[in-house]
Amino acid sequence: MEAVNQDIIPKITLSDGREMPCIGMGTFGSDRFSALQVADAVYGGIEVGYRMFDCAACYGNEKEIGKSLAKAFDEGKVKRDELFIMTKIWNDMHRKVRESCLKSIEELQCDYVDMLYIHWPFPNYHPPGCDVDARNPDSKPFSVEEFTDTYRQIEELVGEGLVRYIGISNMTIPKLEAVLPLLKIKPTACEIELHPAFQQEELFNYLKEHDIIVVGYMPMGSPARPDRDMMPEDIADLKMPEIVGIAEAHGIPTAEVALKWAYQRGQIPIPFSITKEHYKANLRCLTEDPLNEEEMRLIATLERGNRLVKGQVFLWEGAKDWHALWDEDGVIVS
Ligand SMILES: NC(=O)c1ccc[n+]([C@@H]2O[C@H](COP(=O)([O-])OP(=O)(O)OC[C@H]3O[C@@H](n4cnc5c(N)ncnc54)[C@H](OP(=O)(O)O)[C@@H]3O)[C@@H](O)[C@H]2O)c1
Repeated sequence: MEAVNQDIIPKITLSDGREMPCIGMGTFGSDRFSALQVADAVYGGIEVGYRMFDCAACYGNEKEIGKSLAKAFDEGKVKRDELFIMTKIWNDMHRKVRESCLKSIEELQCDYVDMLYIHWPFPNYHPPGCDVDARNPDSKPFSVEEFTDTYRQIEELVGEGLVRYIGISNMTIPKLEAVLPLLKIKPTACEIELHPAFQQEELFNYLKEHDIIVVGYMPMGSPARPDRDMMPEDIADLKMPEIVGIAEAHGIPTAEVALKWAYQRGQIPIPFSITKEHYKANLRCLTEDPLNEEEMRLIATLERGNRLVKGQVFLWEGAKDWHALWDEDGVIVS
């Protein structure tokens, strides 16, 4: 399968002149796809032209992905400095950031990490694949002091050259307001859930105004997400009649409409796929046949508050329900 030409894949130039691709491949197997299946997709992804991968320690597949990366390096398919590798500190490692980062670097066989995210802004741990009603009695509400301490540990790793840029994820405006003035190195990106029926416009605009790159996870509304994240009230973004209509008008799959919208709106989508035809088409679709202004305006009307990752398993004792995680009244819920 012929690769997409690197020259036409859109990229953002970062403050130091390096480039970040405007699309990356997700690597969360959603408790459904094995580490090997995901690692095969990473190898195939490099072959078809992906240069950015969104990994995480808690996805449980960095070792296998590392083998794919090493194979691609050995075969001369790509050089390390042509890749943009992102990974994340899981909640139980907030006090041991260096250890977590070194383990990811070793497993991914990548010498350094391009972007290291704090996966969730609190250290509330739950085991992989746990039930949606599971609660950890040690869970606590967000703490500015704890968050900035975790962040400072990443700043040190930047100083050592082990990490190039710092990312944050699953943040809210009140939390950002509280921590941004306290950070020495500004976060380069913030990774948040974004798809047509969940556009987080206020947070999106806030990040843009603060010159923080917006990385959008679950860009297709994650149709194969884990069962614990499936609720009867959830909307299937790709089945919305307006998305279907635009896909028909362009003669493309609905997944590509969601990705074109994401890119044209100004966020970086990180779609997951283990199907080669899909992931190649997902990359290529950003380089051709853009949506027109009317189609972009129509998708802007599809916001439905359709948050799919509600985060129940991170709740602390006394917290009312999952809304407490998202500071919906404009103040940090503690
Ligand atoms: N920071 C965080 O807290 C966080 C949370 C969740 C996710 N993430 C990141 O975001 C990434 C993406 O999210 P996600 O995997 O949940 O959801 P997603 O990318 O919205 O959806 C993935 C699903 O869409 C299907 N798909 C992909 N391309 C397609 C195409 N062209 N046509 C039809 N179906 C297509 C895939 O099936 P096939 O395999 O058959 O193509 C897969 O089942 C994750 O992998 C992870 O890296 C981050």
